[in-house]
Amino acid sequence: MDGLRVLLIISGGVAAYKSLDLIRRLQERGFTVTCVLTEAAQQFVTPLSVAALCGGRVHTDLFAPEAALSHITLSREADVVVVAPATANTLARMAAGLADDLATAVLLASDKPVLVAPAMNPAMWAASATRENVERLEARGVHRVGPECGDMACGETGAGRMADVSRIVDAVGDLLAASASGGSRPLAGRTVLVTAGPTHEPIDPVRFIANRSSGRQGQAIAVALARLGADVTLVHGPGSPASLPSVRVVPVTTALSMLEACEAALPVDVAVCAAAVADWRIELPAGQKIKKPEDGGAAGLSLSLVPNPDILARLSRPGPGRPDLVVGFAAETRDVIENAVRKRARKGCDWILANDVSDQGNRGQGSPFGHALNTIHFITPSGHEDWPTMSKEEVAGMLANRIVDALETSSTLRRSLP
Ligand code: C5P
Repeated sequence: MDGLRVLLIISGGVAAYKSLDLIRRLQERGFTVTCVLTEAAQQFVTPLSVAALCGGRVHTDLFAPEAALSHITLSREADVVVVAPATANTLARMAAGLADDLATAVLLASDKPVLVAPAMNPAMWAASATRENVERLEARGVHRVGPECGDMACGETGAGRMADVSRIVDAVGDLLAASASGGSRPLAGRTVLVTAGPTHEPIDPVRFIANRSSGRQGQAIAVALARLGADVTLVHGPGSPASLPSVRVVPVTTALSMLEACEAALPVDVAVCAAAVADWRIELPAGQKIKKPEDGGAAGLSLSLVPNPDILARLSRPGPGRPDLVVGFAAETRDVIENAVRKRARKGCDWILANDVSDQGNRGQGSPFGHALNTIHFITPSGHEDWPTMSKEEVAGMLANRIVDALETSSTLRRSLP
């Protein structure tokens, strides 16, 4: 997303103070942010504080002599226009097509995707005038994130709070990714199951066996596939995100609960198993906390482990319910490709994304566990490819494109069969 330009229109609601954080978060993702403040917004945040954050790129006045025709330039120079907070008044003025201040003039002149993040008192959000305005705007192609339910600054509770800043940033990323791909959704109508994260296998009510997986690669894959239109279920071990854009997140804890959730998600067209599932579980977890010797417990502790089911192998089993495409991962510390090739054959999946999780992984930059980067060796029945070291989001995008190609080829093959 580097170098893309966001025009942020801040309208006059209490939530305007959150827009300062929004500017920072967008910049952290590599966006260049230019701001327009309505007159009312300046009652809540000053142009000076906004200017300090966005390097002086702040505009307030439609009629400033030095800014003649700035509404046209501003709208043309942006890749996306975000209105956050979008007050009931601003939404109404947008819906009516007014252009009597810089913000509304920019919006009317814009030919770029527009995202609004409404924020207002719950009664104002519920008012039929607002409902009609929002429907009108959405019918014109305006995108919306939020509002959320919760406690309001006015002391009331209900729907009207501006969407969390991270959700707005995600929505901007999605919008730009969709418009970069021409808005095409080649996976529309396809169902995908993704597993991600570690599993926790209980020893007693307090302790468990875990591993170093963060789930970030699997999350990125789920988001990338959802962006291309797939209906995605993400079964995620402990540490699952509360929500991801357009992804159904099913939080689980143990390998057994992950298997159960995966089976409940079937049938699917594609399964991607990125989770680091524990290979073993404690045969009989203790019902009470196991005591140390000094607290009256036994001198030593032996844990009896039994193997967990292999979810990837189960999903890969041949049969009428098998997904068209099953993709696994292989985290290896040596002989990465040889081990992954054997693993693909043993598990019966179609592809394996193998990576070196030793300290020498990522071409010497360190293990991909918890790292932003990943270096994939892509194993298929016909051989393997070494992908460059990329961000986990880029790996996800690359895999998503391969999935699109594979599904297109398989449906072409099916269509050409007698
Ligand atoms: O056998 P190994 O754990 O190395 O295999 C890794 C692949 O198998 C990953 O795709 C992982 O999600 C999947 N797996 C699984 N269930 C297990 C163990 C691994 O789905 N019990």
